[in-house]
Amino acid sequence: METHLLELPIPSEDIAFGLMGDFEADTHPNKVSLIAGTYRDENGKPWVLPSVGMAKERLRDENHEYLGIAGSPKFINLAKELIFGSVASGFEDNIGSIQTVSGTSANHLAATFLADRLRPNRVFIPSPTWINHKSIWEATGVTVAEYPYYSSSTKQVDMAGMMDTLDQAEPNDIVVLQACAHNPTGVDLSPSQWRQIADLCHQRMLFVVFDSAYQGFATGDVDGDAWAVRHFTEKVLAFENHPGLCVAQSFSKNFGLYGERVGALHLVLPRNVSVQGARGELMAIVRREYSNPPRFGASIVQKVLGDRGLRVQWEDDLNIMSLRIKNMRRELRRGLEKETQQDWSHVETQIGMFSYTGLTKEQVSRLRHEFHIYLLPSGRISVCGLNEGNIQYVVHAISEITKS
Ligand SMILES: Cc1ncc(COP(=O)(O)O)c(C=O)c1O
Repeated sequence: METHLLELPIPSEDIAFGLMGDFEADTHPNKVSLIAGTYRDENGKPWVLPSVGMAKERLRDENHEYLGIAGSPKFINLAKELIFGSVASGFEDNIGSIQTVSGTSANHLAATFLADRLRPNRVFIPSPTWINHKSIWEATGVTVAEYPYYSSSTKQVDMAGMMDTLDQAEPNDIVVLQACAHNPTGVDLSPSQWRQIADLCHQRMLFVVFDSAYQGFATGDVDGDAWAVRHFTEKVLAFENHPGLCVAQSFSKNFGLYGERVGALHLVLPRNVSVQGARGELMAIVRREYSNPPRFGASIVQKVLGDRGLRVQWEDDLNIMSLRIKNMRRELRRGLEKETQQDWSHVETQIGMFSYTGLTKEQVSRLRHEFHIYLLPSGRISVCGLNEGNIQYVVHAISEITKS
């Protein structure tokens, strides 16, 4: 008998979501989750940003109508201003933006559109990177290549490896770059390294896809966290012979709006090329995939960014989150150095939500089975999972499993 075409092998479970299920099922009183990329407050609880809470109060009378295909025009303008600052002004015809279903669909839309229209031979993604970059690009049929991003021996960016690999890319190939607070390593390029990569991309005519998921969340400074995006954008707009770039912007982390799915995709083309046709095509993809983006998250973001008082509150909220993460990094380093007599400075110097601890798969497994502490097999921890109540326990567990 012929097998049915839809009788398919069961795909392996998503690692992070699978682990989160195991964590929920674990009944140990001291269990700790360092898995998810979601902020937790000092009590280990999800945090509604005060600015977001206030905006919600003011939205009580909002209606529930559809947004347009490209989303809310007010939201789009504010999102654009947030990521590009003054760099975008005067270039209305060269930067086309649409609202998306958070950062994931911004990445997906960019990939779908670029695979079809730019027809790159290869897309280069960092090794390692956010797990979805590979899946999203593989689904387009474009060959996915990796560039070395992180050196486990120096615990820094592998700049030489990155430059050498990108130097082999061909015109119209695509390079995916994370704008700040690199997931999963927590290691970013310095401004001078960004400049070198921007020059190389221009020389080799590579199209850049910036993934910006942590603006303001990384350091508390929204402009500082957008520096690389703005530098590359200035370059694209200064030349006529540049393939362009796009930015997949997420508001999940910096507004704590994980479930609302709010984001944007911005396409930047050189000064002599109008973006209107390309933007129209992005809208056509949206129309057939999900028709129009969700309303509520965008309403919150535009309320906050469009109101002077709420914006100030939001920047305070960003500082609270990024400072708490910095403090946890410092305490983790101090505790580990004291207990293990080894150098753990990297956990403090890395930035953003994640730390690449350097723990091996075996050590990660021991943490789970002996101490009920959950993290990804790569040794990545979400620093947000640490708090005053569990940090000593985590320090003790890590020092135990790194001893032998
Ligand atoms: C680098 C990176 N890009 C994009 C995303 C997308 O998140 P979302 O779809 O919630 O905006 C994440 C989330 O963890 C991320 O770390």
